[in-house]
Amino acid sequence: MAQQHILNFPKGFLWGTASSAHQCEGDNTNNQWYRWEQQGHILTGEQCGAAANWWKAAEDDFALAEQMENNALRLSLEWSRIEPSEGHWDSTALDRYRAMLIDLRRRRMTPVVTLHHFTDPLWFADLDGFADEANIRFFVRYVTYVVQALRDLCDFWVTINEPNIYAVLGYQLGTYPPGEHNLVRSFQVLGNMMQAHVEAFYEISRLQPEAQIGYCLHYRLFDPATSGSPLDRSIAGLQDMFFNWAALQAGETGRFPLPFNTLLPPIPRASGARDYHGINYYTREMVRFDPTNPAELFGRRFALPDAIRNDPGKDINFGEIYPEGIYRVLKAVYQRTRGNKPLYITENGFTDATDSRRPRAILEHLAMVHRAIREGIPVRGYLHWSLVDNFEWNEGWGVRFGLVELDPLTQQRTPRPSASMFGEICRANAITESIVERYAPEAAEAIFGANGMAQRQVPV
Ligand code: BGC
Repeated sequence: MAQQHILNFPKGFLWGTASSAHQCEGDNTNNQWYRWEQQGHILTGEQCGAAANWWKAAEDDFALAEQMENNALRLSLEWSRIEPSEGHWDSTALDRYRAMLIDLRRRRMTPVVTLHHFTDPLWFADLDGFADEANIRFFVRYVTYVVQALRDLCDFWVTINEPNIYAVLGYQLGTYPPGEHNLVRSFQVLGNMMQAHVEAFYEISRLQPEAQIGYCLHYRLFDPATSGSPLDRSIAGLQDMFFNWAALQAGETGRFPLPFNTLLPPIPRASGARDYHGINYYTREMVRFDPTNPAELFGRRFALPDAIRNDPGKDINFGEIYPEGIYRVLKAVYQRTRGNKPLYITENGFTDATDSRRPRAILEHLAMVHRAIREGIPVRGYLHWSLVDNFEWNEGWGVRFGLVELDPLTQQRTPRPSASMFGEICRANAITESIVERYAPEAAEAIFGANGMAQRQVPV
């Protein structure tokens, strides 16, 4: 009998999906993203509305995740529901979250709970949010309240999702609220968010010493458009450092790299303030030196013309589907942190409404995660973005990340082929030859072949 190929994942590997409150719950009208929408910034002109209806019926989707034999599910809490006005707490909101977490545990899924995923209560935004260091105490007070109330149901916390996206898109590029174009403020926000994470970390550790606590950063690959061009190389390097590594370095050492440390004070007690590294990875961009684009550090970013791509957004270019990138990011984070903590893929996903590229993309990314594990990098879980289509910030319903398709008008769910494939992978805790043959035979050589992706050398 011919030998069957298989990529086994470690025992206890966390398999699941990731999502956020505002994108799924519906009717969140008390945060700055609702105001942004009212101001007409959603590029499709759509409204978040009932979103994926999770406030009323998240459990229906948890049932789909259970059918996929997921053993984890990442969701976020909506601060503006829990503390609708400064210092006023709504215990009914916590009751609803308690019900969701109880339901997840009943279905044998570990809840991975994010405390801040892009949305701020209006009152907090109106106080200048994370741009004012003095406001960090509000975030820490909210964290204390929530952890005291939910620690019997959750012991895996993400304090803040992607401080680098929040700071860069909100304060430098101005495409997310509050829509500013101010590089210095963007770095101050990043610094304050990292400090908020550190303070939240120690608070949660005090309240719940056994908890796993971390934050996630969004990592993108920036490769020079022409590798022989010193200008392209240095601009790509600058973008890489600015976007990917400044926050990680601050999180690790309490100090931002030059030149940002001239603006930002050190963060006390940062080193040691996380139990894992959360990695959100989507794409890579090529970077060409462009003296006419100072707003983006004199770089022009684009996807390789012949790349396999995500469906385009109106604003964000989700760009190239680049599986090697997840390996390169895992390796770089591991090396830069000297392997001090386990790593989790807390997000990875693709915009593909017809699901014509997603099955292959998932398989090839997972093969790259497997490669990292084989090389000794302690990757402990993979959370796919996302379970069902959800309201994609500025892009509205214009791009579709779900394993399960959602019709927002009827709330009808239709699992895409990727959903059943992901279920098979989770059930097997492995990528088998049979899974690859049935869902993306064209990827077999890349995944299992002697010169395949799993073995191929890629630059690090
Ligand atoms: C965010 C998600 C978002 C996804 C796709 C991540 O940066 O955490 O909220 O939906 O990217 O854009």
